[in-house]
Amino acid sequence: MTTNQAESETVAFEVTDQIAWVRFNRPEKRNCMSPRLNRQMLRVLDELEFRPDVGVLVLTGAGTAWSAGMDLKEYFRDSEAEGLAGTRQAQREAYTWWRRLRWFQKPTIAMVNGWCFGGGYGPLFGCDLAFCALEAQFGLSEINWGILPGGGAAKVARELLSFRRAMYHTLMGENIDGRTAAEWGLVNEAVPAAQLQERVTAVARALLQKNPVAIKAAKDAIRRVGEMTYDNAEDYLIRAQEAANFYDAEGRQEGIRQFIDEKSYKPGLGAYDRSKQE
Ligand code: ACO
Repeated sequence: MTTNQAESETVAFEVTDQIAWVRFNRPEKRNCMSPRLNRQMLRVLDELEFRPDVGVLVLTGAGTAWSAGMDLKEYFRDSEAEGLAGTRQAQREAYTWWRRLRWFQKPTIAMVNGWCFGGGYGPLFGCDLAFCALEAQFGLSEINWGILPGGGAAKVARELLSFRRAMYHTLMGENIDGRTAAEWGLVNEAVPAAQLQERVTAVARALLQKNPVAIKAAKDAIRRVGEMTYDNAEDYLIRAQEAANFYDAEGRQEGIRQFIDEKSYKPGLGAYDRSKQE
Protein backbone atom coordinates (compact mmCIF):
# COMPACT_ATOMS: atom_id res chain seq x y z
CA MET A 1 0.00 0.00 0.00
CA THR A 2 2.92 2.37 0.62
CA THR A 3 6.23 3.12 -1.07
CA ASN A 4 9.34 1.24 0.04
CA GLN A 5 11.03 4.25 1.60
CA ALA A 6 11.59 3.72 5.33
CA GLU A 7 9.46 5.96 7.54
CA SER A 8 12.58 7.40 9.14
CA GLU A 9 13.83 8.55 5.72
CA THR A 10 10.76 10.60 4.83
CA VAL A 11 12.32 13.54 6.69
CA ALA A 12 16.00 14.47 6.62
CA PHE A 13 17.79 16.96 8.81
CA GLU A 14 21.18 18.28 9.81
CA VAL A 15 22.27 20.90 12.32
CA THR A 16 24.97 23.37 11.26
CA ASP A 17 26.03 26.43 13.26
CA GLN A 18 22.85 26.32 15.39
CA ILE A 19 20.56 26.14 12.36
CA ALA A 20 18.52 22.93 11.97
CA TRP A 21 17.89 22.33 8.27
CA VAL A 22 14.86 20.04 8.10
CA ARG A 23 13.80 18.65 4.73
CA PHE A 24 10.63 17.02 3.45
CA ASN A 25 12.40 14.04 1.90
CA ARG A 26 10.14 12.33 -0.62
CA PRO A 27 11.42 14.13 -3.72
CA GLU A 28 10.19 11.42 -6.10
CA LYS A 29 6.67 12.08 -4.72
CA ARG A 30 7.18 15.85 -4.69
CA ASN A 31 7.33 15.71 -0.89
CA CYS A 32 3.62 15.15 -0.51
CA MET A 33 2.69 14.41 3.09
CA SER A 34 1.88 10.79 3.86
CA PRO A 35 0.95 9.57 7.35
CA ARG A 36 4.46 8.15 7.59
CA LEU A 37 6.05 11.50 6.80
CA ASN A 38 3.73 13.21 9.28
CA ARG A 39 4.69 10.82 12.05
CA GLN A 40 8.37 11.18 11.27
CA MET A 41 8.18 14.97 11.16
CA LEU A 42 6.72 15.01 14.67
CA ARG A 43 9.62 12.83 15.88
CA VAL A 44 12.12 15.21 14.27
CA LEU A 45 10.48 18.28 15.81
CA ASP A 46 10.51 16.51 19.18
CA GLU A 47 14.20 15.79 18.83
CA LEU A 48 15.16 19.32 17.78
CA GLU A 49 12.92 21.57 19.84
CA PHE A 50 14.96 21.77 23.02
CA ARG A 51 18.39 20.76 21.73
CA PRO A 52 20.85 23.36 23.06
CA ASP A 53 22.76 23.40 19.77
CA VAL A 54 19.63 24.44 17.81
CA GLY A 55 18.61 28.10 17.73
CA VAL A 56 16.59 28.31 14.50
CA LEU A 57 14.72 25.71 12.45
CA VAL A 58 14.46 25.94 8.66
CA LEU A 59 11.91 23.75 6.86
CA THR A 60 12.63 23.05 3.21
CA GLY A 61 12.12 20.33 0.62
CA ALA A 62 14.38 17.90 -1.25
CA GLY A 63 14.22 18.11 -5.03
CA THR A 64 11.83 20.29 -7.03
CA ALA A 65 9.09 20.63 -4.41
CA TRP A 66 8.65 22.16 -1.00
CA SER A 67 5.55 20.00 -0.53
CA ALA A 68 2.86 18.98 -3.02
CA GLY A 69 0.37 18.92 -0.15
CA MET A 70 -1.28 15.84 1.25
CA ASP A 71 -0.53 12.47 -0.31
CA LEU A 72 -3.73 11.79 -2.22
CA LYS A 73 -3.13 8.07 -2.06
CA GLU A 74 -1.59 7.37 1.34
CA TYR A 75 -3.17 10.22 3.33
CA PHE A 76 -6.61 10.25 1.71
CA ARG A 77 -7.42 7.01 -0.10
CA ASP A 78 -5.56 4.52 2.08
CA SER A 79 -6.62 6.17 5.36
CA GLU A 80 -10.24 6.47 4.28
CA ALA A 81 -10.21 2.76 3.43
CA GLU A 82 -9.75 2.18 7.16
CA GLY A 83 -12.95 4.04 7.97
CA LEU A 84 -13.53 7.08 10.13
CA ALA A 85 -10.89 5.97 12.63
CA GLY A 86 -8.29 5.88 9.86
CA THR A 87 -9.28 9.30 8.59
CA ARG A 88 -9.24 10.89 12.02
CA GLN A 89 -5.89 9.33 12.89
CA ALA A 90 -4.32 10.61 9.66
CA GLN A 91 -5.70 14.11 10.33
CA ARG A 92 -4.45 14.04 13.91
CA GLU A 93 -0.95 13.06 12.83
CA ALA A 94 -0.76 15.90 10.32
CA TYR A 95 -2.39 18.61 12.41
CA THR A 96 -0.31 17.73 15.46
CA TRP A 97 3.03 18.52 13.91
CA TRP A 98 1.72 21.70 12.23
CA ARG A 99 0.48 22.87 15.62
CA ARG A 100 3.86 21.96 17.18
CA LEU A 101 5.48 24.08 14.50
CA ARG A 102 3.20 27.07 15.15
CA TRP A 103 4.23 27.13 18.81
CA PHE A 104 7.77 25.81 18.39
CA GLN A 105 10.23 26.95 21.03
CA LYS A 106 12.72 28.27 18.44
CA PRO A 107 12.03 30.64 15.54
CA THR A 108 11.15 28.81 12.34
CA ILE A 109 11.63 29.69 8.69
CA ALA A 110 9.94 28.09 5.67
CA MET A 111 12.42 27.98 2.78
CA VAL A 112 10.09 27.26 -0.12
CA ASN A 113 12.23 25.90 -2.92
CA GLY A 114 9.47 24.75 -5.30
CA TRP A 115 5.89 23.45 -5.40
CA CYS A 116 3.71 24.29 -2.39
CA PHE A 117 0.14 23.02 -2.54
CA GLY A 118 -2.94 22.62 -0.36
CA GLY A 119 -2.02 20.94 2.89
CA GLY A 120 1.43 22.48 2.51
CA TYR A 121 -0.13 25.75 3.64
CA GLY A 122 -0.41 24.24 7.15
CA PRO A 123 3.34 24.01 7.76
CA LEU A 124 3.89 27.16 5.68
CA PHE A 125 1.79 29.09 8.20
CA GLY A 126 3.33 27.05 11.01
CA CYS A 127 6.68 28.64 10.21
CA ASP A 128 7.17 32.12 11.64
CA LEU A 129 8.84 33.50 8.52
CA ALA A 130 8.76 32.31 4.92
CA PHE A 131 11.14 32.89 2.01
CA CYS A 132 10.73 31.38 -1.40
CA ALA A 133 12.35 31.07 -4.78
CA LEU A 134 10.90 33.36 -7.44
CA GLU A 135 10.26 30.16 -9.38
CA ALA A 136 8.26 28.51 -6.57
CA GLN A 137 4.60 27.81 -7.28
CA PHE A 138 1.83 28.07 -4.71
CA GLY A 139 -1.69 26.77 -5.11
CA LEU A 140 -4.84 25.77 -3.31
CA SER A 141 -5.45 22.98 -5.78
CA GLU A 142 -8.13 21.29 -3.66
CA ILE A 143 -10.91 22.74 -5.82
CA ASN A 144 -9.27 21.13 -8.86
CA TRP A 145 -9.83 17.64 -7.51
CA GLY A 146 -13.13 18.30 -5.82
CA ILE A 147 -12.71 19.29 -2.18
CA LEU A 148 -12.47 22.47 -0.11
CA PRO A 149 -9.11 23.57 1.31
CA GLY A 150 -9.28 21.72 4.64
CA GLY A 151 -6.65 21.02 7.23
CA GLY A 152 -6.43 24.71 8.01
CA ALA A 153 -5.59 25.77 4.44
CA ALA A 154 -8.68 27.97 4.07
CA LYS A 155 -7.85 29.58 7.41
CA VAL A 156 -4.29 30.22 6.29
CA ALA A 157 -5.58 31.90 3.14
CA ARG A 158 -7.85 34.17 5.20
CA GLU A 159 -5.11 34.92 7.75
CA LEU A 160 -2.48 35.86 5.20
CA LEU A 161 -4.39 37.17 2.19
CA SER A 162 -7.04 39.77 1.60
CA PHE A 163 -10.63 38.47 1.36
CA ARG A 164 -10.73 38.90 -2.43
CA ARG A 165 -7.38 37.21 -2.98
CA ALA A 166 -8.23 34.37 -0.61
CA MET A 167 -11.51 33.80 -2.41
CA TYR A 168 -9.97 33.93 -5.90
CA HIS A 169 -7.07 31.70 -4.88
CA THR A 170 -9.49 29.15 -3.36
CA LEU A 171 -12.15 29.10 -6.06
CA MET A 172 -9.96 29.28 -9.15
CA GLY A 173 -7.29 26.73 -8.23
CA GLU A 174 -4.74 28.75 -10.20
CA ASN A 175 -1.13 28.80 -9.06
CA ILE A 176 0.82 31.94 -8.19
CA ASP A 177 4.58 32.22 -8.48
CA GLY A 178 7.00 33.28 -5.75
CA ARG A 179 6.95 36.94 -6.71
CA THR A 180 3.16 37.10 -6.44
CA ALA A 181 3.23 35.09 -3.19
CA ALA A 182 5.48 37.78 -1.70
CA GLU A 183 3.30 40.58 -3.09
CA TRP A 184 0.22 38.93 -1.55
CA GLY A 185 1.90 38.37 1.83
CA LEU A 186 1.92 34.57 1.68
CA VAL A 187 5.69 34.74 2.19
CA ASN A 188 8.05 37.45 3.39
CA GLU A 189 10.25 37.59 0.31
CA ALA A 190 10.92 35.87 -2.99
CA VAL A 191 14.50 35.70 -4.26
CA PRO A 192 16.17 33.91 -7.17
CA ALA A 193 16.52 30.21 -6.36
CA ALA A 194 20.32 30.44 -6.37
CA GLN A 195 20.20 33.02 -3.56
CA LEU A 196 17.50 31.42 -1.43
CA GLN A 197 19.69 29.50 0.99
CA GLU A 198 22.06 32.44 1.42
CA ARG A 199 19.19 34.80 2.26
CA VAL A 200 17.62 32.34 4.69
CA THR A 201 20.98 31.72 6.35
CA ALA A 202 21.45 35.48 6.84
CA VAL A 203 18.00 35.81 8.43
CA ALA A 204 18.64 32.77 10.65
CA ARG A 205 21.98 34.21 11.79
CA ALA A 206 20.34 37.53 12.65
CA LEU A 207 17.71 35.68 14.72
CA LEU A 208 20.47 33.79 16.53
CA GLN A 209 21.85 37.11 17.78
CA LYS A 210 18.64 37.99 19.62
CA ASN A 211 17.62 37.02 23.11
CA PRO A 212 15.91 33.60 22.66
CA VAL A 213 13.46 34.12 25.53
CA ALA A 214 12.33 37.39 23.97
CA ILE A 215 12.07 35.74 20.54
CA LYS A 216 9.76 33.00 21.83
CA ALA A 217 7.60 35.51 23.74
CA ALA A 218 7.43 37.82 20.71
CA LYS A 219 6.55 35.15 18.15
CA ASP A 220 3.80 33.74 20.37
CA ALA A 221 2.49 37.27 20.95
CA ILE A 222 2.16 37.96 17.24
CA ARG A 223 0.16 34.75 16.79
CA ARG A 224 -2.01 35.26 19.90
CA VAL A 225 -2.97 38.93 19.64
CA GLY A 226 -4.58 38.49 16.23
CA GLU A 227 -7.76 37.18 17.80
CA MET A 228 -7.81 39.41 20.92
CA THR A 229 -9.47 42.73 21.59
CA TYR A 230 -7.04 45.60 22.06
CA ASP A 231 -7.54 45.56 25.84
CA ASN A 232 -7.02 41.81 26.05
CA ALA A 233 -3.88 42.06 23.95
CA GLU A 234 -2.52 44.87 26.12
CA ASP A 235 -3.04 42.73 29.21
CA TYR A 236 -1.68 39.55 27.59
CA LEU A 237 1.50 41.36 26.54
CA ILE A 238 2.14 42.59 30.08
CA ARG A 239 1.71 39.06 31.44
CA ALA A 240 3.80 37.51 28.65
CA GLN A 241 6.72 39.88 29.29
CA GLU A 242 6.52 39.28 33.03
CA ALA A 243 6.56 35.53 32.38
CA ALA A 244 9.57 35.99 30.09
CA ASN A 245 11.32 37.84 32.91
CA PHE A 246 10.97 34.67 34.97
CA TYR A 247 13.07 32.73 32.44
CA ASP A 248 15.53 35.52 31.75
CA ALA A 249 15.68 38.15 34.47
CA GLU A 250 18.95 39.76 33.33
CA GLY A 251 18.63 40.00 29.56
CA ARG A 252 16.74 43.26 29.30
CA GLN A 253 18.82 44.86 32.07
CA GLU A 254 21.96 43.95 30.16
CA GLY A 255 20.44 45.34 26.94
CA ILE A 256 19.78 48.65 28.67
CA ARG A 257 23.22 48.67 30.36
CA GLN A 258 25.16 48.18 27.12
CA PHE A 259 23.26 51.07 25.51
CA ILE A 260 22.95 53.60 28.35
CA ASP A 261 26.12 52.93 30.41
CA GLU A 262 28.58 51.17 28.13
CA LYS A 263 27.40 52.86 24.92
CA SER A 264 28.62 49.81 23.00
CA TYR A 265 25.60 49.44 20.67
CA LYS A 266 22.32 51.10 19.73
CA PRO A 267 19.09 49.03 19.96
CA GLY A 268 17.75 50.98 16.99
CA LEU A 269 20.58 49.55 14.89
CA GLY A 270 21.12 46.01 16.15
CA ALA A 271 21.08 43.53 19.05
CA TYR A 272 23.05 43.76 22.29
CA ASP A 273 26.00 41.43 22.86
CA ARG A 274 24.53 38.43 24.63
CA SER A 275 27.96 36.90 25.31
CA LYS A 276 28.51 39.60 27.96
CA GLN A 277 25.32 38.43 29.67
CA GLU A 278 26.45 34.80 29.75
N1 ACO B 1 -0.27 12.94 -3.65
C1 ACO B 1 0.15 11.74 -4.11
N2 ACO B 1 1.12 11.62 -5.02
C2 ACO B 1 1.67 12.73 -5.50
C3 ACO B 1 1.29 14.01 -5.08
C4 ACO B 1 0.27 14.09 -4.10
N3 ACO B 1 -0.15 15.26 -3.60
N4 ACO B 1 2.02 14.93 -5.74
C5 ACO B 1 2.85 14.24 -6.54
N5 ACO B 1 2.64 12.91 -6.41
C6 ACO B 1 3.34 11.82 -7.08
C7 ACO B 1 2.82 11.58 -8.49
O1 ACO B 1 1.66 10.78 -8.48
C8 ACO B 1 4.01 10.91 -9.12
O2 ACO B 1 4.05 9.58 -8.67
P1 ACO B 1 4.57 8.39 -9.66
O3 ACO B 1 6.00 8.74 -9.96
O4 ACO B 1 4.42 7.15 -8.85
O5 ACO B 1 3.71 8.45 -10.87
C9 ACO B 1 5.19 11.61 -8.45
O6 ACO B 1 4.69 12.17 -7.25
C10 ACO B 1 5.78 12.72 -9.29
O7 ACO B 1 4.73 13.59 -9.63
P2 ACO B 1 4.56 14.22 -11.10
O8 ACO B 1 3.14 14.67 -11.20
O9 ACO B 1 5.04 13.27 -12.14
O10 ACO B 1 5.59 15.44 -10.97
P3 ACO B 1 5.64 16.80 -11.81
O11 ACO B 1 6.91 17.45 -11.41
O12 ACO B 1 5.37 16.58 -13.24
O13 ACO B 1 4.41 17.68 -11.24
C11 ACO B 1 3.09 18.61 -9.44
C12 ACO B 1 4.50 18.20 -9.94
C13 ACO B 1 2.54 19.79 -10.25
C14 ACO B 1 3.29 19.00 -7.97
C15 ACO B 1 2.11 17.40 -9.56
O14 ACO B 1 2.73 16.25 -9.01
C16 ACO B 1 0.81 17.63 -8.83
O15 ACO B 1 -0.07 18.28 -9.35
N6 ACO B 1 0.69 17.07 -7.60
C17 ACO B 1 -0.51 17.25 -6.82
C18 ACO B 1 -0.55 18.60 -6.16
C19 ACO B 1 -1.80 18.73 -5.34
O16 ACO B 1 -2.84 19.12 -5.86
N7 ACO B 1 -1.72 18.32 -4.08
C20 ACO B 1 -2.88 18.19 -3.22
C21 ACO B 1 -3.24 19.50 -2.66
S1 ACO B 1 -4.77 19.39 -1.79
C22 ACO B 1 -4.34 18.87 -0.24
O17 ACO B 1 -3.19 18.86 0.12
C23 ACO B 1 -5.44 18.55 0.74
